[in-house]
Amino acid sequence: MALAGQKARPGQAHRRPQLGDGGKCAGLLGKFARYFEVEPRYVPLTADRYVIGTDEALQLVNENTIGVVGILGSTYTGEYEPIAELNDALMEMNERTGWDVPIHVDGASGGFVAPFNRPDLLWDFRLPLVRSINASGHKYGLVYPGVGWVIWRHEADLPAELVFHVNYLGGDQPTFNLNFSRGAGQVLAQYYNFLRLGREGYVAVIEGLEATAAYLRRAIEETGHFEVLSKPRTVPLVCFRLQGPRRHYNVFDIAAHLRQRGWIVPAYTLAPDAQDVAVLRVVVKENFSRDMADLLVGDLSRTVALLDQAKPARLETAPARPRAGKGPASSPPRESRQRAHPRGTHGVC
Ligand SMILES: Cc1ncc(COP(=O)(O)O)c(C=O)c1O
Repeated sequence: MALAGQKARPGQAHRRPQLGDGGKCAGLLGKFARYFEVEPRYVPLTADRYVIGTDEALQLVNENTIGVVGILGSTYTGEYEPIAELNDALMEMNERTGWDVPIHVDGASGGFVAPFNRPDLLWDFRLPLVRSINASGHKYGLVYPGVGWVIWRHEADLPAELVFHVNYLGGDQPTFNLNFSRGAGQVLAQYYNFLRLGREGYVAVIEGLEATAAYLRRAIEETGHFEVLSKPRTVPLVCFRLQGPRRHYNVFDIAAHLRQRGWIVPAYTLAPDAQDVAVLRVVVKENFSRDMADLLVGDLSRTVALLDQAKPARLETAPARPRAGKGPASSPPRESRQRAHPRGTHGVC
């Protein structure tokens, strides 16, 4: 979580800070902060809180704050941040101080999940302070990469000077874009899915993904080696860490070995101050079946058994298990003998 504020320009007093997010999302919000000259302020996680803390966030808010960002579906664990709680606390603070600090919801993943798995959860424009929301069409919007959405509460929230009007396409055409001409295929694909699936279809898809995620979660827990950190009825993913006595290997070794078996399962550390927590994460999408979950958990168990037996020095050269059959789980080992950088991630989100 982060708080950001506009950088002081020469000759200017310090201007308005803004609240955003942290860690991986620091990269995302950091881009915004750099381009728009705002100062990001991050709410640190703790060893057992992996989302924004409302009290901690409010401590970073001041008269310069231009907004607080709540994430609906943490990149790290899929957990929904307490947007309604943040809304109530900020409303109280705004009233007490006379400030006007709104909320932006980063619904990159959850924007296309919560309406279907938690219709009663308050996180959107039903909350008075939510001013804008973004969501990625290419995640649970079920469209291929390249399309994302942002919506504002009021037309007036989108500065009119950022919207350009052209008439040469045969009528007034407002355009709000950094570049101009772009293919509309992704927008059409999204529109097609809306029409083809409808709310009922999206509910069915998300319920299916949740069932697969729950199945995978159980299977991973049953190995006895892992603690699952992700929660049910959030973003359908399974985020887990090693549990039990200290081992001579870590989740980065597991990710590297899984890679040799054809799986890309990102291993990464959580954002500060929970950077000592290292996890693996499997994002469950429509093409991830229960059969694949079984294959993955089988490979996970074999990997752990192999690492348990391996001497630390041999970790990087352990052979991949030869497999028969087709599909991602059975792909032959490729180039990946390299160990992931202990701070790095080779996954996508
Ligand atoms: C919380 C969060 N916000 C924003 C993004 C970026 O979304 P997009 O890929 O649509 O640009 C991601 C994706 O990693 C994310 O996890």
